Amino acid sequence: MSTQDTLSRPMRDLRISVTDRCNFRCTYCMPFDEYEWIERNQVLSFEEIVRLAGVVREFGVEKIRLTGGEPLVRRNLDKLIYQLHNSSYATSSLDVTLTTNGALLSEQAASLYAAGLRRINVSMDTLREDRFKAITQRGNLSEVQAGIQAAKRAGMKPIKVNAVIIRGTNDDEILDLVRYARENGLEMRFIEYMDVGNANAWSLEKTVTKREILDTIHASFPLREVGRDHGSAPAVDYEFLDGGGEVGIIGSVTEPFCSSCTRVRVTADGKLVTCLFSETGFDLRSVMRGGATDDELRARIGAIWTGRSDRYSDVRWENLKSGAGYQPREHKKIEMITLGG
Ligand code: GTP
Ligand code: 5AD
Ligand code: SF4
Ligand code: SF4
Repeated sequence: MSTQDTLSRPMRDLRISVTDRCNFRCTYCMPFDEYEWIERNQVLSFEEIVRLAGVVREFGVEKIRLTGGEPLVRRNLDKLIYQLHNSSYATSSLDVTLTTNGALLSEQAASLYAAGLRRINVSMDTLREDRFKAITQRGNLSEVQAGIQAAKRAGMKPIKVNAVIIRGTNDDEILDLVRYARENGLEMRFIEYMDVGNANAWSLEKTVTKREILDTIHASFPLREVGRDHGSAPAVDYEFLDGGGEVGIIGSVTEPFCSSCTRVRVTADGKLVTCLFSETGFDLRSVMRGGATDDELRARIGAIWTGRSDRYSDVRWENLKSGAGYQPREHKKIEMITLGG
C-alpha cells in the first residue's frame, strides 16, 4: 500500500520513542525542570509497539528506529528488538535500529546484537571530558567511548557517531572528531544545531552551517559527495578520497530536506507525530486500548498521513532568508525528549 501525503511524500521510516526518560540532561535538549514526565501506565507496552509497527509497515515502512529520551533506559529493550525482528511482518528488508547516548551500551551491546541489532547511532558531541560533562550535565565521556568499543566488539556496523555542532561550544573539534572516527572505523556525522523543542536557547548564529563543516573537513581530508541514503535520509554522505571511510552532514537548518521527508514518529505514550517540529500528535494509544481493529487503526493513520503538509524546516529557512524571523507562527513544539529527534 503506498499512501502519499499532500506533498506526494510516501511513509517509509518509523521513529518510535520507547521512553521519555534519560540518564543525561543535555543543555540543548532539556535544561528545565518543569517537564511533565509521561506516566508509566501511559507508555506503550512492547506488544503495542510491535502491533503498531506492523500496521505502519503496511504503508511501506522499511526502517524502524527506536529513540527516547534514551532508549536503553527502557528495561529489556533487547526483547523488543527481538520481537520486532521475529514478528510476522519482519522480512530481510526490515531495518531495525536505534539512536542512543551510549552510556549503557557497554553492558547492553552484546545482548542487543544477539537480539538482531546490527547497526547503531551514538551521540557524542565532544572528545573533551570537561565539555562532555558541561553539555550532558550527567554523562561520562569515557563510558560512552567504552560503549562504542563494546558495540564494535559485538559486531555492529556501521556505527555512526552524531555530533551536534554549536558555535562557541564544540565547533573547534570538528577535525578531532573526524580523526577519532577514522582511527576507530566509525562514521562521523555532523548535525546543524536546530530549534527543536522549546527548551534550548537556539539562535541562527549558534548554528554552524553544513557548508562551514564541509569546508573545514575538506581542507584537511578531501571529500567527494556520495548523496543521501535512499534519497531521503537527513544526512548527505561524503567519502574521503583517501579511502578512509565516510562522513555525513545533516543540514536541517540551512539545507532543509522536507521535500523528501518520509518519516513518521510515535511518542512513548503512543501519539502519532508527522513532523519533528509538530505542536501535537494524534493519540493512537487510546484508539488501540479502546479496542480498535488493525484495519481501523490503519485507516486512522492513513487519513492522518494523507492530510500531512508539514515542511517546518523549509519554511524556517525561507523565513530566515527573507529576514522574516524563523518561526512560521507562534509555535509550542513537542519537546526533543518526547520525540527523540
Ligand atoms: P540513519 O538511519 O543512520 O540515516 O539515521 P538518522 O540520521 O535518520 O537518525 P538519527 O537519530 O541519527 O538523527 C540524526 C539527526 O537528524 C538528529 O539530530 C535528528 O533530530 C535529525 N533528524 C532526523 N530526522 C529528521 C527530520 O525528519 N527532520 C529534521 N529536521 N531532522 C531530522
Ligand atoms: N539540534 C540538532 N540535533 C539535536 N539532537 C538533540 N538536540 C538537537 C538539536 N537541538 C540530536 C541528538 C541525537 C539526535 C537524536 O538528535 O544529539 O544525536
Ligand atoms: Fe541528551 Fe538525548 Fe537525553 Fe536529550 S534525550 S538529554 S539529547 S541524551
Ligand atoms: Fe520532516 Fe518536519 Fe523535519 Fe521537514 S522539519 S524534514 S517535514 S520532520
